Amino acid sequence: MAIRPILHYPDPRLRTKAAPVADVGPEIRELIEDLAETMYAAPGVGLAAPQVDVPLRVFVVDIAAADEPSSLHVFVNPEIVRREGTLSWQEGCLSFPTVAEEIERAAAVTVRARDADGQPFELQADGLLAVAIQHEHDHLDGVLMVDHIGPLKRRIVHRKMMKRQRGGS
Ligand code: NI
Repeated sequence: MAIRPILHYPDPRLRTKAAPVADVGPEIRELIEDLAETMYAAPGVGLAAPQVDVPLRVFVVDIAAADEPSSLHVFVNPEIVRREGTLSWQEGCLSFPTVAEEIERAAAVTVRARDADGQPFELQADGLLAVAIQHEHDHLDGVLMVDHIGPLKRRIVHRKMMKRQRGGS
């Protein structure tokens, strides 16, 4: 297991459309372990493979609070098959350090995916778990949190991130 470096906006690799995983083999399982380790170390509630420069349709989510037992969800080739209602949540992203923006998403989703053993499953989620799934799923299509906010806020976030990049952090 290894902690992998996380790409930060405006790295163009974050805009890559990720490819489906053909087979959940040892390499994918290692990727999943690294994603989980990197997410927990950050710490964050979700991390998608494109954020660590692997353009494959894989992400991990764990919304458990620090004082709760961890609850890792692994999604390989996920597909959101149902979205219902709307919900506004203050979101962050490990590719946008220090940024937090109110974003509107579906309040509940149903997602179909494969797990770390390649087994298909279906999950119904609402609240923060639904938000995290939609946020991470976006990363697989090169969609970022700035794409969900207004032009003025987007410009402010962009400038903040450019300034941070120039600062070398
Ligand atoms: Ni993110």
